[in-house]
Amino acid sequence: MFERLPGEITVFEVGPRDGLQNEAGQVETADKVALIEALAQSGLKHIEITSFVSPKWIPQLADGLAVARQLQLPSDVQTSALVPNLKGYEGACAAGLKQINLFLSASESHSKKNINKSVAEALSTMKEVAAAALADGKRIRCYVSTVFACPYEGPVKPEQVVMVVEGLLQMGVHEISLGDTIGAANPRQVKEVLDRLSGVVPLPRLALHFHDTRGTALANVVAGIESGVTIFDSSLGGLGGCPYAPGASGNLATEDLVYMLEGMGIKTGVNLERLVDAGALAEKILGKKLPGRYLQAALATRAKACAG
Ligand code: HMG
Ligand code: MG
Repeated sequence: MFERLPGEITVFEVGPRDGLQNEAGQVETADKVALIEALAQSGLKHIEITSFVSPKWIPQLADGLAVARQLQLPSDVQTSALVPNLKGYEGACAAGLKQINLFLSASESHSKKNINKSVAEALSTMKEVAAAALADGKRIRCYVSTVFACPYEGPVKPEQVVMVVEGLLQMGVHEISLGDTIGAANPRQVKEVLDRLSGVVPLPRLALHFHDTRGTALANVVAGIESGVTIFDSSLGGLGGCPYAPGASGNLATEDLVYMLEGMGIKTGVNLERLVDAGALAEKILGKKLPGRYLQAALATRAKACAG
């Protein structure tokens, strides 16, 4: 059945950003720092720690600079942050980040709601930031949101995704993460979009970013792997969502992803027990249960062992 299984997959952790941006309450800076350090303890090497967007739009992450400055991480952990414009880029530089993560949408309505710009305006802003970042020797990732469906417009045409991806490649973006922002995609659509992109962008430069709103995220990962993608975004405990995409609930949970991949014989470099420790810490900090299924099963087993 599986002819093209890779030996390794890169897991790109977005919980501290995509997860915490969606929390109703404010999380203390020290708690964010402890959480990111716990994620690094699990072996994750790519962690998006915050965003440098307008604090009026996302007050939850207004302390990005303080978080970055307080972190103490092993030197092989690559931290990065979400950046919408030159002002955000200045923040990321002040934080000493070597990678920035730009973002824009494939659909006009989500673009307007999320960053107050049309897709063309967003591409032009990204070009400006990419030029500055390349001149400074930074690595650039860019998310394309609403690749499969838009919360305002419904299905998104693959041609629109191809147009945006081509624009990003022209400006020298190193990695492009295709976002199923509202968790609507299925494996067939994943394969179709990747087939459309296969002549446009080298597969090693693509990542997939699934939200698990309708329970299709892991199936979509398998479709992505079969098409040759080797970088997947996920979020501790399945935290997450985009505040400007109604109906977008949690991201694919990192533990679910790691459990499945390791079980398939694909190395992730992530220790599941340490990841569960990080999940337990997140639950303590947020004062609630997280949706991740592996996490809940593991915590229930630990609780039983303690009781017995
Ligand atoms: P705007 O209001 O059009 O911006 O927002 P503006 O340029 O007119 O500036 C307005 C004010 O914001 C000014 O301040 C600026 O200085 C300030 P004022 O003069 O009013 O005091 N400002 C900033 N402050 C701090 N950092 C900045 C910044 N930029 C401007 N970088 C803007 C435009 C893009 C700033 C705004 O719409 C914004 O911040 N949007 C971010 C929304 C967001 O973070 N959404 C969630 C992340 S995307 C996502 O989750 C999807 C993803 O996970 C992939 C997927 O799942 O699909 C990535
Ligand atoms: Mg997201």
